[in-house]
Amino acid sequence: MHAPYEVPRISVANTPLASTDTDLIIIPIAQDRTDEALAALDAAIVDDVRSALQRGEFRANAHEIYSVRAMVPGWRAAGVVFVGGGNRQEICAERLRRMVIAAVRVAHYQKRERIAWADVEPGVLTAAARAEIVADGAVMANFDNGLHKSRTNDGSQFFIRDVAIVTKDNTGDAAKTGVALGDAVNTARVLINEPGNFLPPRVFAEKAAQFGSVAGVTAEILDEKQIDALGMGLFLGVARGSAEPPRLLTLKYTPANAPAGKMLGLVGKGITFDTGGISIKPSDGMERMKDDMAGGASVVAALRCIALQKLPIRAVAVVPMTENMPGGKAIKPGDILKGASGLTVEVNNTDAEGRLILGDGLWYARKLGATHLIDVATLTGAVVVALGKITTGLWGTPQPWVDHIRTAADRAGEKVWPMPLFDDYREQLKSEIADMLNSPGRPAGAVTAAMFLKEFAGDGAWAHLDIAGTAWAEDAKAWQPKGATGAMIRTLVEVARGGFPEEKIR
Ligand code: BES
Ligand code: MN
Ligand code: ZN
Repeated sequence: MHAPYEVPRISVANTPLASTDTDLIIIPIAQDRTDEALAALDAAIVDDVRSALQRGEFRANAHEIYSVRAMVPGWRAAGVVFVGGGNRQEICAERLRRMVIAAVRVAHYQKRERIAWADVEPGVLTAAARAEIVADGAVMANFDNGLHKSRTNDGSQFFIRDVAIVTKDNTGDAAKTGVALGDAVNTARVLINEPGNFLPPRVFAEKAAQFGSVAGVTAEILDEKQIDALGMGLFLGVARGSAEPPRLLTLKYTPANAPAGKMLGLVGKGITFDTGGISIKPSDGMERMKDDMAGGASVVAALRCIALQKLPIRAVAVVPMTENMPGGKAIKPGDILKGASGLTVEVNNTDAEGRLILGDGLWYARKLGATHLIDVATLTGAVVVALGKITTGLWGTPQPWVDHIRTAADRAGEKVWPMPLFDDYREQLKSEIADMLNSPGRPAGAVTAAMFLKEFAGDGAWAHLDIAGTAWAEDAKAWQPKGATGAMIRTLVEVARGGFPEEKIR
């Protein structure tokens, strides 16, 4: 069996590069500052890189890699690679993380056990932000998709053991935070990559509870009877088609120093496999629907990080977990379900199941006292049509809460973009025989899904992140393996770090 990842030891030190004892030194270099950067380096490597730049063999484009040819005389390191950054002004959180991961993957490929990152290119980031990103990127890069492979191509598995951040700034704490973040993203990715047979709701609940249960967090798993007692007919309606019983996971983080009367509520979609139910999906590509619990894994990972950082904010994560299956007891198109909030829904399409379980999930988070809600879900194919696999769709109200989340995503280096919730869209949700329909047709499918959720969000602050396009990478990139991405985990943690923009809300 393969290990899915290992967390390397990360240290922060201020050693001269020449005397840094490591297998590989990674040096970031901005395209518009190559002369400046080279002037600060040892003459021994400058000639090599300068001629590569002159020949055009290396252009210092964003995350372009250049390996220095020979051992550098007088340097203890066995090797040196440069990683391009493009223009300095463009080296933001996302760019730097991609540079780090691309370079650390090269180190991994070269089987370098101990590596060092030279913190010589500030970009537009603070020293602490850089240290955090170098740490989280290095941890994320030390990841292996082959959990279920029984053999490897070359007989053994390799992981990087040591990462030294060479910097004059005292950024040890920031690096530690980065390690915790990278670790949480990796664990979430492992869960998201797990196929449906390895992760039915009972197993997902157990694993996620364990994963989220750090100091200060209490976990609770409700079974089908307890879910029924709460009146969650929307959630249970989806679960009915499956032989696997549903679970409702709650993680609560209640630090002593938190402002009273406010609580962040993170609600994640936890469909461990989405066949579509009776409105069954076509078989082409259906295997990907094992990732339909990515939102659930993300909120658990985020809550874990929030608690590990001891952020002074009360937070709860709620994840309704079930399969969406076409069993003999499954709900049928046209059935009417009643949720815990009292609203009734005509289920005209059983494949629009995410909004059903989230409706009850949002209600439950509010019942637990959440005042500021964010749900995260692989909710609609329509968001992929609108924003592709690049950008997460963001909906919410009131505006300061939405802005707060946008700012957090920027800081975290993740792409989100705001989408509308105009009242006129509500028309499409109308049902003749119930309070609303669950599947309001093709036009603006991602928007009407958000409009549906809004009905369950109460009148506090609420936001919805549709990660159907961003949770899963179809192709490997230099900075991203194929499969689960762990999207929005860092954004959620950053939201919590920013606290509540309360003076502006309500
Ligand atoms: N889990 C899917 C959404 C999805 C689609 C995620 C593609 C990732 C990639 C969701 O449950 C779903 O099936 N949505 C339907 C809704 C429709 C029936 C209103 C969709 O998008 O087609
Ligand atoms: Mn579906
Ligand atoms: Zn789904």
